[in-house]
Amino acid sequence: MSLLRVENIDKTFVTTRALKNAAIIVEEGEIRGLVGENGSGKSTLVSIVSGIIRPDGGRMFKNETAYAPESVLDAGREKIGIVVQEMGTIDGLTVAANLFLGEERLFKRFGLLNTANMNRRSLEVLHRYGIVNIQPDADIGALTFEDRKLVEFAKALYIDPDLLIVDETTTALSHHGREILFSELKRLKKKKRSVIFISHDLGEVIEHCDSVTVMKDGETVDTVSTRGLNEHDLKELMVGRELQHTYYREDTEASYEEEVILRVENLTLNGAYYDVSFELHRGEILGIGGLTNCGMHLLGKTLFGLKPATSGSVEVSDGNKRITNYVDAIAGGIGYLPKNRDQEGLMLLSSIRENICLPSLSSIQKRGFISPSKERKLAQYGAEQLSIKMSSINQLCLYLSGGNKQKVALSKWLVKDSDILILDCPTRGIDVAVKASIYGLMQELKKEGKAVLVISEELQELIGVSDRIIVLKAGRVKKIFERRKDLTEEEIIHFMI
Ligand SMILES: Nc1ncnc2c1ncn2[C@@H]1O[C@H](COP(=O)(O)OP(=O)(O)OP(=O)(O)O)[C@@H](O)[C@H]1O
Ligand SMILES: [Mg+2]
Repeated sequence: MSLLRVENIDKTFVTTRALKNAAIIVEEGEIRGLVGENGSGKSTLVSIVSGIIRPDGGRMFKNETAYAPESVLDAGREKIGIVVQEMGTIDGLTVAANLFLGEERLFKRFGLLNTANMNRRSLEVLHRYGIVNIQPDADIGALTFEDRKLVEFAKALYIDPDLLIVDETTTALSHHGREILFSELKRLKKKKRSVIFISHDLGEVIEHCDSVTVMKDGETVDTVSTRGLNEHDLKELMVGRELQHTYYREDTEASYEEEVILRVENLTLNGAYYDVSFELHRGEILGIGGLTNCGMHLLGKTLFGLKPATSGSVEVSDGNKRITNYVDAIAGGIGYLPKNRDQEGLMLLSSIRENICLPSLSSIQKRGFISPSKERKLAQYGAEQLSIKMSSINQLCLYLSGGNKQKVALSKWLVKDSDILILDCPTRGIDVAVKASIYGLMQELKKEGKAVLVISEELQELIGVSDRIIVLKAGRVKKIFERRKDLTEEEIIHFMI
């Protein structure tokens, strides 16, 4: 008996046909991967299964009984839980209130909410899943993106789901968070529970899933076993054409100009990073790696003037300007892609056109007025450069798929022609084909004499693109690697932990 059977699901958003006859069958005790290019319909499909949105047509069965959830709570009652791709927790509430959202009655007596009790239960739930660093009474808005994702994960797990859906969450998690995630998936499988796991990290999908369903343009085109499947073949199934084997840089030596374009001296942010010094050169791709809490994400924010340092300095060589706020940073030719794109990198309620053109307003103005034709051209160019999947450049960013939002957030700095690009987790949620073009773009920028600083937890990615890699551990520079042919992940990890 199958646990979940989904047949002929259709879904159209205004003009976008997101799903066409989508179908999937998941057996008990099966971990199913779900892959496909950005915008192929993965999130839409699992949103329907988990009650977030309603389909236009088609049928679903859970344990061979008709199933049509009207809400996430409804799906939860049917033992289907989800960790969504974007932020799934609500600001302004505590961790505990988020965990038990919609289930407050469990802690109510005579109409009064027993917060202490709810906090106690929350602590239990968090600890059950090995999440020990999060306090139930903390405001969720004060947590890092990773920690918020872990809270969501605990929330999906404590209903003891028959089917757990995890939508492109791993790239938002730290190594530790991933360990928690994968060990819980294993536990579920042992209990004969099932999982639908969405990820653009195909290696991860092959390693942790029993089988994988491939989506293309809203259709579920294929389901294959992961036994004996290699990443390259899965990539081709997904993209539907032959791909080059390597998508990283082919040269094996560091190469950059002598000229320093950004200088960081003794930079310290108490509690985050300490005494960080380095120089970024023209034509250099500089990687920064480490565990997620090693201070690198905050360092990126400081370099762009968003998070003032306690001491030390950041200086762009062009006019020896010191960067202490983002206005100076932008004027100094710096662009910044934050890790948390939805909250920091995009205006979700504005169009793709407005988002892409925002940093470039000065160059598309005529006598103080924005030239609509220049604006359109610039946005069109940016959208094509990264093949953003959209109905038009006037579409609101809110309605883009996760990976396509990431492309908009990146595009606005590419079209601005920034000299220095600070990219925090640049390929988070990006499909393999577009990843390849982003790596290609980085190399083009390098050739043009620009400089790119890549902050990433993906060591393969850092090794693949960087001239040098700075390794941070507990906020301090532990090691700087030069690009070379035989540099391995293990060597880097050694200095990270
Ligand atoms: N609420 C919405 N309104 C309009 N269009 C939408 C909405 N939600 C999704 N879409 C569109 O439906 C299509 C499928 O999107 P979906 O989010 O399911 O893709 P995905 O496979 O999850 O992609 P990604 O890998 O980037 O996360 C996209 O073209 C997207 O723009
Ligand atoms: Mg998605």
